[in-house]
Parts: sequence; structure tokens; C-alpha cells
Amino acid sequence: WKIHYFKEINSTMDMAREMAKKGCPEFTVVVAGQQNAGRGRLKRVWISSQGGLWFTIVLRPRIVPGLGFRINFCASLTLVRTLRRMFGVNAMVKWPNDILADEKKIVGILSEMETEGDEISFINIGIGINVNNDPTSEEPNASSLKNILNREISREELLLEFLNEFEHQMNHGDFDNLISEWKKYAITLNRHVKVVTTHDVSEGLATDVDEEGALILRLEDGSIKRVIYGDCFHQH
Ligand code: BTN
Repeated sequence: WKIHYFKEINSTMDMAREMAKKGCPEFTVVVAGQQNAGRGRLKRVWISSQGGLWFTIVLRPRIVPGLGFRINFCASLTLVRTLRRMFGVNAMVKWPNDILADEKKIVGILSEMETEGDEISFINIGIGINVNNDPTSEEPNASSLKNILNREISREELLLEFLNEFEHQMNHGDFDNLISEWKKYAITLNRHVKVVTTHDVSEGLATDVDEEGALILRLEDGSIKRVIYGDCFHQH
């Protein structure tokens, strides 16, 4: 890993993209102390004040069908395990790839892929972890490790542990069992959910996540719907 730290930038996604386009090696990591224009999924703003861990990893995998979504699931699964092991928190994954603890969001993941013809030029995985910051005033459904554990956490240690584990997963991990492993920590399954996309809203019971990472819903009328992206709200 080659880690580049910036005290304050707009977004590690933008910086990593620039570096990737200039040909930086795979496993380059861009970390920011603070982001002034942090980006979330579905064009949302991601509030990234001091104290959080905001980073983007540049990967350059050879093309394999479906690899893009697998890397996301691999990242959330690895991070859930790392958080559980290091801090004993009851971390769970929420489809598609948020991480919650005590039903509050503590991690968001955003990835961007660039292809050149049939080749992947890069896949950048951006991860935002609420560590020692307190997002609750802007995001009532979010929390941070510090809020949950009542102590400050070393962001360096967390980052290095995660990167180690992630590298191991990418090199030796069992991608065939990735989704079934991921489902062990899935908070979304067997719950009544509402999934909102840019063009529709689906409501139903989340019955499964298939091998392509899509969420399978059983709608009110008994029909089955496969949802490939969107914002998932858990009904209580
Ligand atoms: C989401 O849940 O909407 C995804 C949030 C991803 C946030 C991270 S923080 C590091 C990287 N830089 C960004 O601007 N966004 C991602």
C-alpha cells in the first residue's frame, strides 16, 4: 500500500481519480483528515468533518464479469469483520453496502470504475468511517465508533488493519462464498423494506441477496422483484 495523506481536500474520490488517471500504481490509498466536498452514493453530500476516517483505494483488477459489485461486497464484509474483531461492536451490513452498528450508520462505501475499451482502467473504492467525529446533529440515523464505544479510536490502526485484511481477502479470499458470508451479517434480510431509486419505489419483504448482489423483494401482491440499486429503508 502507498498511503497519501492530505489534511484537507475536497474529496478523496476526486484526488484518487486524478492520480489513477495519471497512472498511479494499484493499492494507492488517498486519505483525508477532512473533506470539503465529500460525496455519497446517489449524488448525495457526505459530511466529512475532522475525526472521521475518509479514504479511497485505487485498484486495477483484470476484467472479470461482475467484479465491480463483488469488490464492494468484499470491502463491506472485510470492514464488518475488522470492526467486530478490533472493537467488539455488533457491526452489520445494510444492503447495498452500508455498515450499521446499533441500527445507526457508521460506514458508507462509494465506488467508481473507469474502463478503457474492454479493460478496467481502475476501480476506486471510497470508504467513509465515522470514527471520532459525531455525525448525529446532521444525520440522526448515523453514529460513530466514539459515540458507541465511549472512547477515541486510532484511525491509523483501524486503516492499517482494514487494508491488511482487505489485501488478504482480495488475494486469497473465497469469492465464491462472498455473498453467502456477507448475508450472515445482513441486517436487511427478512425485513420489510422500501427501496427508492431515481425512477421508482418498491416495498416488500427482503427475502434474499442473489449472486449478483441484487436485493430480492417479495411484494405485497406476492410477486418477486429484483432490485439492483437504490436507497433501502428498513420499516420498523
Ligand atoms: C454513502 O453511503 O453514500 C457512501 C459514502 C462514501 C463516503 C466516502 S468518504 C471517502 C470517499 N470520499 C468521498 O468523497 N466519498 C467517499
